[in-house]
Amino acid sequence: MLIPPVLPVPRDGIAVVTGASSGIGAAVAEALVNLPGTRFRVIGTTRDPASITNPIEGVECLALDLTDPSSIASFAHEILERGVPSVLVNNAGESQAGPLEELPREALERLFQTNVLGHIDLTQRLLPAMREAGEGRIVMVGSMLGSFPLAFRSSYVASKAAIKGFGFAARREVRPFGIGIAVMEPGSINTGLSQRRTKYVDADGPYGREFDTMLRRLDANESSGVSAERVAEEILAAVLDKRQKPLYAAGSLAPVVFPLSRILPRETMHRVINRRHGL
Ligand SMILES: NC(=O)c1ccc[n+]([C@@H]2O[C@H](COP(=O)([O-])OP(=O)(O)OC[C@H]3O[C@@H](n4cnc5c(N)ncnc54)[C@H](OP(=O)(O)O)[C@@H]3O)[C@@H](O)[C@H]2O)c1
Repeated sequence: MLIPPVLPVPRDGIAVVTGASSGIGAAVAEALVNLPGTRFRVIGTTRDPASITNPIEGVECLALDLTDPSSIASFAHEILERGVPSVLVNNAGESQAGPLEELPREALERLFQTNVLGHIDLTQRLLPAMREAGEGRIVMVGSMLGSFPLAFRSSYVASKAAIKGFGFAARREVRPFGIGIAVMEPGSINTGLSQRRTKYVDADGPYGREFDTMLRRLDANESSGVSAERVAEEILAAVLDKRQKPLYAAGSLAPVVFPLSRILPRETMHRVINRRHGL
C-alpha cells in the first residue's frame, strides 16, 4: 500500500478528548476550541456531567466511563450520530501506586480497563469512520513512566507501556488511510493528579517505608511539574504536524532524558529514575 510521506492536517470535524473535566484533558479541549484557523466541534468527557460546575466555553461535555463497556458503546454512538471524528485524544486515566505484591486483582483490572482496554474499545469504534473520511489523528496519552519505569508504580507503568505499544504498532496500519497515531508521554505535570491517585499498600508491611519515600517525592515532583497547558501544546503538535512523530513528550526534562536513554545503559537509567524518587 502507498504510504503518504505527509499526513493531511485536520481543521474541522469532531475532536474528542476523553477525561476533559480537569488537568491535561481540559487544557487540550480548551486549546482545540481556541485554535486559530480551525473549526473543530470539541467534545470532552467525564464520568459525571452533572459534576461539571465550570464548563469550558465551546466544549460539549458527554458522559463516558471507560470501565463500563456499555458506556463506551453509547458514547461512540453519540459521537457518530453527530458526525465524523477527525481527532481523538485518548487522555482519561487513573494513576495507581503500590508494591506489586500488594496490588489487588480488581484494582489491576480496573486500571487496565480504564487506561488501556477502554481506550482501545473506543478507538476501534471511531476508527472506521475516520478511515473512510481519509484523515484523522489519534493521540494516546501515556506517561514518561511507560518509557522509564519507577518502583511501586508497576501497574501504572505497565498500563502506559501497553497503550504506547498499541499506538506504535497500529501507526503503520492506519497511515495509508491518512490517519496518524502518536503517543504523548507527559512527565510530572502539575494537575493535582496526586490527590486522585489510588494507592494499595500496607503501611506497616515490608514495603511501607520505601513506598512512602517514593510517594512523597512523586507528589513533590508533580506539584512542581510543568503545566497542563504545556502538555496540551505537545498534544496539539501531534494533531497538527504534517510529519507527525511517533512520540511526543513534555515535563520532567524530557528533551534531556530521552536522548540520555539512548546513550546510558538501561540499568543506569532505571537507577537514575528510582534515585530521583528517593530510592
Ligand atoms: N499529571 C501527571 O503528572 C501525568 C503524568 C503522566 C501522565 N499523565 C496522564 O495524563 C492523563 C491525564 O492526567 P491528568 O493529570 O490531567 O489527570 P486528572 O486531572 O485526574 O484527569 C483525569 C481525567 O480522567 C477521567 N477519568 C478518570 N477515570 C475515568 C474512567 N474510568 N472513565 C472515564 N474517564 C475517567 C477524569 O474524569 P472524571 O473524574 O470527571 O470522570 C478526568 O477528566 C492520564 O492518562 C494520566 O495518566 C499524567
